[in-house]
Amino acid sequence: MTEVEVWWGRIEQVRDEFADDLDPVERGRYAAYVRADDKARFLLGCTIVRRLLANRLSLPAASIRLDRTCPECGKPHGKVRADGAELSVTHSGDLVGVAIGDRPVGLDVEKVDPGLDVDGLARISLSEAELAALPRNGERAREFTTYWTRKEAVVKATGDGLRADLRTITGPPAGFQLVELEVDAGYVATLAVMSPEPPGVRTRSAQVLI
Ligand SMILES: CC(C)(COP(=O)(O)OP(=O)(O)OC[C@H]1O[C@@H](n2cnc3c(N)ncnc32)[C@H](O)[C@@H]1OP(=O)(O)O)[C@@H](O)C(=O)NCCC(=O)NCCS
Ligand SMILES: [Zn+2]
Repeated sequence: MTEVEVWWGRIEQVRDEFADDLDPVERGRYAAYVRADDKARFLLGCTIVRRLLANRLSLPAASIRLDRTCPECGKPHGKVRADGAELSVTHSGDLVGVAIGDRPVGLDVEKVDPGLDVDGLARISLSEAELAALPRNGERAREFTTYWTRKEAVVKATGDGLRADLRTITGPPAGFQLVELEVDAGYVATLAVMSPEPPGVRTRSAQVLI
């Protein structure tokens, strides 16, 4: 069975010195974030990825070589790639998640925003059937966001990102599995894994890495 580990960190776990382990490309992106929260989420994502791989390889975190080259434009803002592991990074609100396995993975977490423009977003991202099934009550934002994380997890696993038309992704594509993950109240998260059978999923706290 395919095994995937999903590691969760929280924004308050970030310390400035984590930036010492970033490579020049990451330093450039880190410096370019204007908002402190965006900076912290990015740094924590980089740190979890680096420390996971460093532990596996018994190497210093700073020596891990990561490639984020975007297949569309060549800039370093694409999916994180490393030798010997498949990875996916996600952030929202206070949470940062990293999935690691030996087959392509896509992880997406979203903080549920009760004030979300569900109708506007649903038109561009849901199929007719999904739109019709969306509840009209107070669960509407949460249900929509769950659909959204499922679709994002798929496009992050395939590497297509938002190039894909989310309206056409109404379940796992052939050869992929979707797993809804338990996260903090007020958040929803989905993991997509390229696997013929449901994966084993181990959830871990990033605290032990930090
Ligand atoms: C990445 C994306 C799929 C999800 O983004 P999101 O839900 O807003 O944000 P998340 O925090 O869940 O995910 C961001 C992470 O996804 C990863 N990612 C970026 N592009 C990705 C892709 N094509 N496939 C898989 N993962 C991707 C990165 O690791 C990124 O985190 P990091 O940069 O801190 O390492 C979406 O924003 C996207 O497709 N962006 C690209 C859109 C675009 O126009 N890009 C320009 C192309 S030139
Ligand atoms: Zn690009």
